[in-house]
Amino acid sequence: MEKINDYLCRYKGYVFASHQLKVDHIDSLPNFEIRDSDVFLVTYPKSGTIWTQNIIMLICGSDSTDEAEFPNNLVKMPWLEFPTGHSDYSSRPSPRFFASHLTPALMPSGLKGKKAKIVYVARNPKDVAVSYFHFCHVLTNLETPKSFEEFLQQYLAGDVAGSSWFDHIRVWHTHKDEYNILFLTYEDMIMDLRSAVEKISRFLGRDLDEAAISHVVEKATFKNMKKDPKANYEFLPTETLQGKFMRKGTVGDWKNTFTVAQNEMFDRIYQEKMKDLPFKFIWDIH
Ligand code: A3P
Repeated sequence: MEKINDYLCRYKGYVFASHQLKVDHIDSLPNFEIRDSDVFLVTYPKSGTIWTQNIIMLICGSDSTDEAEFPNNLVKMPWLEFPTGHSDYSSRPSPRFFASHLTPALMPSGLKGKKAKIVYVARNPKDVAVSYFHFCHVLTNLETPKSFEEFLQQYLAGDVAGSSWFDHIRVWHTHKDEYNILFLTYEDMIMDLRSAVEKISRFLGRDLDEAAISHVVEKATFKNMKKDPKANYEFLPTETLQGKFMRKGTVGDWKNTFTVAQNEMFDRIYQEKMKDLPFKFIWDIH
């Protein structure tokens, strides 16, 4: 394990927040037993994870029914890489749900061969950078950057929890045919939430009628999630989260933060790193 600074370390080529890394647990993940019915939500940080988590939980009908056993989405859809007191997943009833920011090399090997389902959500990396910068001020376990410029340099170098955005997208996209994966973007979801909800529910094999889809869409709007203390993760202790999880929930907010020079530098790096990826994202990077 390589220490990057007081807050971050690199293990098996991936950057973890030091306080969250449990080496034995990460080492055990390739052998984690997968069921066909498992559902994984995989994202790079700040790409709409909690939003999609909420949507999946609403689609799968667990917003009210199993309240006592699963009082919030974090218990019902735990982070694969961060063990908690609820981590004996082998005794959980199917279907099980997991969220993860990991890359394929660290994931359960049973996911290959298209066992289980993976919903992958990608987001414009400039909006991710700005969202992440603000999140570092809210999550107390992450270092508070001195400036956006300093954070941007760390982000571009992949020296942030979750490693490099470019590597995450590349490796998941390159290997996507090995998995049973639904690839979505945050921008798709903003542009047409209803059809994103329909796509996710079809992928999960849930046959929701029009009214049920409308219910999910209504609950998953930014306005409504922001008002919902659970969807907004207000159950986390204030020592951990000092501020709102839900911030702006928009596309293109990077334009309010990036300088012209930062934008030009970002575009150069983006073109260089993404040029041979046989895939064009729908977002307007410029
Ligand atoms: P912003 O900081 O740009 O507002 P993650 O869950 O992966 O950490 O992603 C967090 C980002 O998703 C934040 O972006 C947050 O506001 C946004 N988000 C959460 N719920 C949303 C919703 N219902 N609609 C749109 N964006 C949402």
